[in-house]
Amino acid sequence: MHWYQTLDFAQGPLYQVIAQAIARAVRTGELQAEQRLPAQRTLAKEIGCTLGTISRAYQLTNEMGLTRSTTGSGSYICAQHPFGFAIPDAQGPALINMSINTPLLQSRAELMGDALAALAQRLSFDPALMDYQVDQGALRQRQVLCDWYRTAGLDCQPEQLCITAGAQHGLALVLSTFTRPGDAILAEAVSYPGLRPLAERFGLTLHPLPIDQQGLIPEALDEQCRRHMPRLLFCNPRFHNPTSSWMSERRKQQLATLARQHQLLVVEDDILAHFGPTSVPLYNLYPEQTIYLSSLSKSLAPGLRIGLLVASPTLMASLSQTLRQDIWMASPMMAELAVRCIESGYSRQLQASDQLELSQRAALLRPLITANSPGGSVQYQPGSPHGWLHLPAQLDALQFVEQLQHKGVLLKPASDFTLAGVQPINAVRFSLSAPLTRDQLHQGLQLIQQQLCSPRPPATSHQPPAAIV
Ligand SMILES: Cc1ncc(COP(=O)(O)O)c(C=O)c1O
Repeated sequence: MHWYQTLDFAQGPLYQVIAQAIARAVRTGELQAEQRLPAQRTLAKEIGCTLGTISRAYQLTNEMGLTRSTTGSGSYICAQHPFGFAIPDAQGPALINMSINTPLLQSRAELMGDALAALAQRLSFDPALMDYQVDQGALRQRQVLCDWYRTAGLDCQPEQLCITAGAQHGLALVLSTFTRPGDAILAEAVSYPGLRPLAERFGLTLHPLPIDQQGLIPEALDEQCRRHMPRLLFCNPRFHNPTSSWMSERRKQQLATLARQHQLLVVEDDILAHFGPTSVPLYNLYPEQTIYLSSLSKSLAPGLRIGLLVASPTLMASLSQTLRQDIWMASPMMAELAVRCIESGYSRQLQASDQLELSQRAALLRPLITANSPGGSVQYQPGSPHGWLHLPAQLDALQFVEQLQHKGVLLKPASDFTLAGVQPINAVRFSLSAPLTRDQLHQGLQLIQQQLCSPRPPATSHQPPAAIV
């Protein structure tokens, strides 16, 4: 069934229905980057409408940033479309953005301003900050980062740490250093959306692993390792993005044992290291072959573009060489700003205030959790900046996202996180931290709840799924 064979003619003017169908097909991956759309005349014939309707539809998708049309050569899906791993463009003041995991930025402006002023003064007596540095980053900065991450449970030394330009950069470094086109990679069936485009770029095949409330299922990992002989496993044990599940200590032990048996390289994404209670990273259990990735994007600010990567000396030698070839080093000035925030106690202060604000925001979820919406359920781990809403079968996740966008609320559908080959999942991710104020979040959650209950689906008893995917 092609995307144009399931048009719902009752949804509005036909050109808009066609444009929405294109948007959906891009979102689900049916239409891929640089794929050519059917010629206008062919499509008009297939659908049974006028050429003018198709022209208007293609014009609309061009305006939405989904396609580009060139006279004589047709219309193509843009390589950079606004779904999945992208920042939504529609950030008008009327929109409540619950689609992206940004930290509570307004609470940071003053502290960051102070840290910047202190950095400005420091430049005159520490000009080395403006100079080239060793690829891993200045030793003093790495020492401060090590100490800060030790408070999140990580067992590391500055020699094993490399400063990166964010966790996404760290992931790109790992994949470009340790994989070759055609390699198999394992990851949670729903995963951080930045992984998929990198895997495509490096010619890797992603194989999905099922997860439940405690994270990756060890038996499935064992089976997939035997079947695919993967080059590496990417996983996100702490407040998994997007489901917010938290890998139990027992699971981590089991995974470390299995990874050791299969001599599997593990990439542990711990972007939310300073959220929630302290727990033992996988890295501590399997340091010889785990590459630990994190960043200050969620605990301080994504605009800093400072992250870190921790690995054994053998792995680090290759990783730091790739980093040098790519960017010489992460910005020493931005790293210093981050380090100053840690040394001055700002980070600790923000950690406490974020925790308090998130718990107050999470309390607003209660009506949604207890809402009489048979078949739907909220999955949320206290302390997480995001949660996962399973929708009743009668509500389609993509339609739900589109309908809420019309009401001014941005969410992310499961398809933005789903690896190829996984059965469609009827769920959406919501961010608690991105809305600017608690009032905005409250308003957004109320609109979600209204949408969930209307039209009221027939009553069925609902059991939360044992396996999430
Ligand atoms: C799980 C996960 N990993 C990595 C990243 C990338 O973070 P950074 O801003 O450090 O590149 C994100 C950003 O949202 C994320 O959610």
